[in-house]
Amino acid sequence: MKYSTRLAAVLAASSFRTALAQSSTWCGKNYMANQTVVPPGGQFPFPTSSAEPLVAFRCAPAFRPYLEEDGKHAAFIIDTPIVFENINGAAPISLSNSSDWWSPSSSHNLGKLDVTISIGNHVHSTKEVPLNATGYEFSLDISSLQAQKTSYNVSCSATYKAETSSSSKTTTQHFSTNASLLYLPDTNASVVKTDLRTGALWVRPADGKGGAFEPFIPQGFYVSFDQYLAKNLSLIDQLKADGFNTIHPIPPYDNATLFQQVLDKTVELGLYIIYDMRSNYQNLSAVADQVNTYSSLPNLLTWETAHEPDGNSDPFTAARNTYDLIYQMDGYHPVSIVLNCEDYNFTPYVEGADIVLEDAYPIGINATYSPVWHTECTPDFGHCGCDNCKGTLVDIKSRIQTYKDRLNILGYDRTKTVWTTPQAMGSGGYWSTTPTGQQWAAMGLTSLNHGATGSMSFQYPTTTGNVSTIEGTATNFTVILAETIQPFVVDPTATFVNYNYGGVDAGLWNNGTAYLLVVANLNSTEVYVPWEGVGLGKVTNATTQVQRIFSVAQNTNATGLNFRPGGIGIYTATPPK
Ligand SMILES: *[C@@H]1O[C@H](CO)[C@@H](O)[C@H](O)[C@H]1NC(C)=O
Ligand SMILES: *[C@@H]1O[C@H](CO)[C@@H](O)[C@H](O)[C@H]1NC(C)=O
Ligand SMILES: *[C@@H]1O[C@H](CO)[C@@H](O)[C@H](O)[C@H]1NC(C)=O
Ligand SMILES: *[C@@H]1O[C@H](CO)[C@@H](O)[C@H](O)[C@H]1NC(C)=O
Ligand SMILES: *[C@@H]1O[C@H](CO)[C@@H](O)[C@H](O)[C@H]1NC(C)=O
Ligand SMILES: *[C@@H]1O[C@H](CO)[C@@H](O)[C@H](O)[C@H]1NC(C)=O
Ligand SMILES: *[C@@H]1O[C@H](CO)[C@@H](O)[C@H](O)[C@H]1NC(C)=O
Ligand SMILES: *[C@@H]1O[C@H](CO)[C@@H](O)[C@H](O)[C@H]1NC(C)=O
Ligand SMILES: *[C@@H]1O[C@H](CO)[C@@H](O)[C@H](O)[C@H]1NC(C)=O
Ligand SMILES: *[C@@H]1O[C@H](CO)[C@@H](O)[C@H](O)[C@H]1NC(C)=O
Ligand SMILES: *[C@@H]1O[C@H](CO)[C@@H](O)[C@H](O)[C@H]1NC(C)=O
Ligand SMILES: *[C@@H]1O[C@H](CO)[C@@H](O)[C@H](O)[C@H]1NC(C)=O
Repeated sequence: MKYSTRLAAVLAASSFRTALAQSSTWCGKNYMANQTVVPPGGQFPFPTSSAEPLVAFRCAPAFRPYLEEDGKHAAFIIDTPIVFENINGAAPISLSNSSDWWSPSSSHNLGKLDVTISIGNHVHSTKEVPLNATGYEFSLDISSLQAQKTSYNVSCSATYKAETSSSSKTTTQHFSTNASLLYLPDTNASVVKTDLRTGALWVRPADGKGGAFEPFIPQGFYVSFDQYLAKNLSLIDQLKADGFNTIHPIPPYDNATLFQQVLDKTVELGLYIIYDMRSNYQNLSAVADQVNTYSSLPNLLTWETAHEPDGNSDPFTAARNTYDLIYQMDGYHPVSIVLNCEDYNFTPYVEGADIVLEDAYPIGINATYSPVWHTECTPDFGHCGCDNCKGTLVDIKSRIQTYKDRLNILGYDRTKTVWTTPQAMGSGGYWSTTPTGQQWAAMGLTSLNHGATGSMSFQYPTTTGNVSTIEGTATNFTVILAETIQPFVVDPTATFVNYNYGGVDAGLWNNGTAYLLVVANLNSTEVYVPWEGVGLGKVTNATTQVQRIFSVAQNTNATGLNFRPGGIGIYTATPPK
């Protein structure tokens, strides 16, 4: 049985208003007619640029956590990009032959760093790592360490011997950074690892019967516990039938018997669950009780703590304190938070998370005038349902990319990941319409193209019927994502490039033998994109070299891709070398 979409949307909108009423600002902005305009502050500072080259020497374990059973085959990831912005941890470097490194004739052989990783007194190893490398894997046997709940402090240092052509003098430069290694005792209970090479999660089967760890991309939905799940467990079957692999019950979970039934059903169906502590994440004893009770769930995927702490102006340290407590007690599951604001105190809030979800809902808003509060929306005032948005799909692309960029600037590009929350509601409150299936899919695709490694749509049940609705699209889309897209996204050896061609957003992965092309026309016009516009200039025979996997309002001809407004497509390609 399906619930009425309109009802779902109204409930969604009303719960948003309820939340809002508790906070007299949103994203630090006043939004009511009787309030004045006060700049919210809290903006993310852009790094200053540097005329001289800097090296952003970074070091992180390849997996978090490692288990005792992994000890002999652990690895660290070393990044040594040369940058020209003062991002966190970047230090000036005098490059070998620095006077000619940019010249096209120079070989760009920048030389190598001698990198040493030390953990306590027992583990110590040095290897040569190329300068300007991304994702260099430094294998390290950590089995002589004691597996324990407390993470190890890891010291990573590098020396660089530069020779200059002008003088034959060799100078030695030193760089250092720290990392945190979580090396936990083996367990048969549930463990969710994060692959810091790709940002993907690795899980055992959700049914709790054991099995190997496999990488996967979470695809799921938020579902209200009391309004839907508690009344109709068959919604969980429906979500599974739609191809989703994860469910996020929205608290409060106020009937423990029914909540247990929900948990049992998700385990039986092999769905992962996100345990949400939004209503009491600042109450550390309540958090401790919940972690004690639920950390052994076989299908527990993540702990979600702060929900829109930036919107509500929660205390800056709250999410971090909860995060530290969860790691003291558990450590086997990552911690996620949801940020709603485009630019409000990003840095302090993300300190409390491994996974940062964005939940911008741009479809059907009036970006300049709030129909709820009857005031205008500007960068300094107002609440239009999507902070600092334009009201198009581009808002999603920008939001994901902005969050990724900031994490990189902060030095968290390996240790924190971004997930997306595709809008799957509307027709009430700030939203005059619900996204179509095509728009919903486009939000998911552009998010993948900008580095999102998980997707939790808001909210279920959603629009049903034919393939133009969200649920109708999802049945095809979830399978393609799992079978075709996921293998590229979770492949640490695959390369990835992003393109913007006339407003068409494209992501191109290459796993060494095949390409995956994911395209979404975020423009409201028709666009033609030649193959070379998305990095596939080597295609000489589109019929034999390009395979369509999925497309809506989008097709190809011999020389490229044709898009109608909002068209989306997924292709694999094997052009000649
Ligand atoms: C402003 O208006 C809101 C409702 O529109 C009301 O709840 C609030 O008390 C008012 N604040 C002031 C300072 O008048
Ligand atoms: C470092 O690598 C990037 C990406 O591969 C490249 O664009 C850049 O030119 C390299 N920098 C130097 C100084 O060689
Ligand atoms: C690890 O580093 C943190 C932060 O620098 C420090 O508080 C902690 O005491 C260190 N732990 C050990 C075991 O050295
Ligand atoms: C720098 O230039 C010197 C002299 O031309 C050359 O011997 C040396 O190999 C170069 N170093 C690197 C790292 O390319
Ligand atoms: C690394 O940790 C050590 C010991 O806690 C500290 O002295 C040092 O400043 C840290 N280095 C960096 C680059 O953060
Ligand atoms: C929980 O739900 C069950 C089934 O609807 C009901 O029998 C029970 O009274 C509820 N418990 C509480 C504490 O509300
Ligand atoms: C937003 O609302 C204002 C005021 O009602 C209206 O003038 C404007 O046309 C609306 N804009 C959009 C894009 O609907
Ligand atoms: C959208 O397409 C139009 C017409 O082709 C083009 O002028 C415009 O630059 C495109 N928009 C973006 C964001 O690229
Ligand atoms: C690359 O992807 C294609 C298509 O999914 C697959 O058949 C092939 O085995 C992959 N190659 C490698 C090296 O992983
Ligand atoms: C593409 O390859 C197919 C199969 O080999 C062939 O029939 C077709 O003529 C080729 N098309 C072009 C434009 O070369
Ligand atoms: C979705 O799958 C159905 C059944 O396999 C198929 O008929 C339909 O064309 C697919 N839709 C798209 C957009 O690929
Ligand atoms: C493919 O379509 C584009 C846009 O309609 C057109 O400009 C181009 O000539 C077409 N290519 C071929 C080979 O028909």
